[in-house]
Amino acid sequence: MTRFDLAAYDRDGFLVLERYVPAEDCDALQARAAELVAGFDPGPARTIFSTCDQGHARDRYFRESGGAIRFFFEKEAGDRRPELALNKIGHALHDLDPVFDRVSRQPRLAALATALGLVQPLLLQSMYFFKQPRIGAEVGWHQDATYLHTRPSTVAGFWIALDDADRDNGCLLAFAGAHRGPLRERFHRVGADLVTSRLDATPWPEAEPVALEVPRGSLVVLHGLLPHASVANRSDRPRHAYALHLIDGRAVYDIDNWLQRPGLPLRGFA
Ligand code: FE2
Repeated sequence: MTRFDLAAYDRDGFLVLERYVPAEDCDALQARAAELVAGFDPGPARTIFSTCDQGHARDRYFRESGGAIRFFFEKEAGDRRPELALNKIGHALHDLDPVFDRVSRQPRLAALATALGLVQPLLLQSMYFFKQPRIGAEVGWHQDATYLHTRPSTVAGFWIALDDADRDNGCLLAFAGAHRGPLRERFHRVGADLVTSRLDATPWPEAEPVALEVPRGSLVVLHGLLPHASVANRSDRPRHAYALHLIDGRAVYDIDNWLQRPGLPLRGFA
């Protein structure tokens, strides 16, 4: 089993594992995403997804995507074809698509989850990010526990670069060590609505963020409380990535989390 630098993870709130995912798995995910997009009929589903605009919040298409495979467009998509216009696919690729299932449940990822201390790891959410050339939107500063909340907080993200990611095409940015700060907000269900509630007024750190420039196949582990972001992609290169979010089944998954999967129980790596 690979040895992981857990001291660095505890210190920084993230861990970069360069080229951890084999190239053939990156190829398989990109090819499968392309197939899914080719089979997708946009029609009324040209739902804009942007973390800068909560206008999607009342959109049922989004609300019910926790147990489905759904497609979300870039804000600046215009009339581009879907393969050049999508922001992401989410949020149950890992359970509903055989290729994403296989890559998500490979032993290397299970070993990593165990090393991180997830005793009963559950694969909660998956997202395929396109970060399209020129129009790939920024993702504002946030903590993943805002969106995926357990008590105690256990969410961890596995972010896999499917293209080389750098400052120009919108690599991840993070405030190293800031996972020790409080959870600022929750995005959750209140009745039929999805709302953002402020929990703590602590501002983001003043420090300079770290740019996590990584080659294709690299896996970045993100602590659920780590503030992270990515800038817009204004380059002429895509920056595809696959993100998988895990929680520990021993923790309480709040019933007001936005992501609910009636009829699709959460599974671990088995
Ligand atoms: Fe995130």
